[in-house]
Amino acid sequence: MQTVAVINQKGGTGKTTTAVNLAAAFAQRGFWTLLVDLDPQSSAAYCLGLDPAREEKTLAKAILEDRPLVEAIRPSGIEGIEVVLGGPELATLELRIKNPLTAVRVLARLLDPVKPAYDLCVLDAPPSLSLMFTNALTAADGLLVPVTPSFLSAKGLESLMTTIDEARADLQVNPALLGLVLTMVDRRLGLDKEVEANLRQVFGEQVLRQAIRLTVRLKEAPGHFRSIFAHAPGSSGAEDYDALAVEVLGRMKLPERAPALAEPAAAD
Ligand SMILES: Nc1ncnc2c1ncn2[C@@H]1O[C@H](COP(=O)(O)OP(=O)(O)OP(=O)(O)O)[C@@H](O)[C@H]1O
Ligand SMILES: [Mg+2]
Repeated sequence: MQTVAVINQKGGTGKTTTAVNLAAAFAQRGFWTLLVDLDPQSSAAYCLGLDPAREEKTLAKAILEDRPLVEAIRPSGIEGIEVVLGGPELATLELRIKNPLTAVRVLARLLDPVKPAYDLCVLDAPPSLSLMFTNALTAADGLLVPVTPSFLSAKGLESLMTTIDEARADLQVNPALLGLVLTMVDRRLGLDKEVEANLRQVFGEQVLRQAIRLTVRLKEAPGHFRSIFAHAPGSSGAEDYDALAVEVLGRMKLPERAPALAEPAAAD
């Protein structure tokens, strides 16, 4: 199993949308995928129509009660994906965790025994430099950073890159930067085009070729508890996330598999 963490300490850059739909794209391409929600806001869970507050078995409980993660794995409602819900207790984990010394690697330790059961694991990280963010860095083989084409977003990247470098040195981990992915891009806007060009100039190959265009279909899908492939298979969002999955698989050096048939649903 290879683990991809979708991270950015900045809020609202498309992390959850990317984690859910990239996991769905991996699954469609035949990769058995585990999605893990690391955000106490539980957005990924809500996208799937699940309520972590009602769940007995969550990541937070596995950590706090030292239970095996396998107990918290459940169906996601999306074919080919299973999910671990984070749970609201993730918000206060720092204060409640029993062993602070091993806390920065607890996710990696919990994931270890389930590795043989999956091809890929996607981590939806919170928009903060919290314990779960650090755990995303220590558990991940690769990092994917969604970034919106705005000036402030581009500025935030500088501090994120420093944080990643510091984590590599301090925690002795070495997740690969799979890439920065531009999200919510509206190429009709001069500003979006300008920021995109600038990011590509500054970060070069680190910016993935495939960007995710702005589309209301991606905003609607969570309300129907569906991936973009089930909600609007003909939409630009479905096209973009499938192409992103192919590019990310290439960067992880995972051999491509044939795409499965999309589930029937309303077109764009
Ligand atoms: N390509 C897109 N087109 C249109 N809307 C989008 C797109 N990507 C994400 N959104 C919407 O933007 C909002 C923020 O996206 P999302 O929740 O994925 O960001 P996030 O980085 O996970 O946020 P947070 O930092 O709060 O966890 C959501 O309402 C989502 O539906
Ligand atoms: Mg999110």
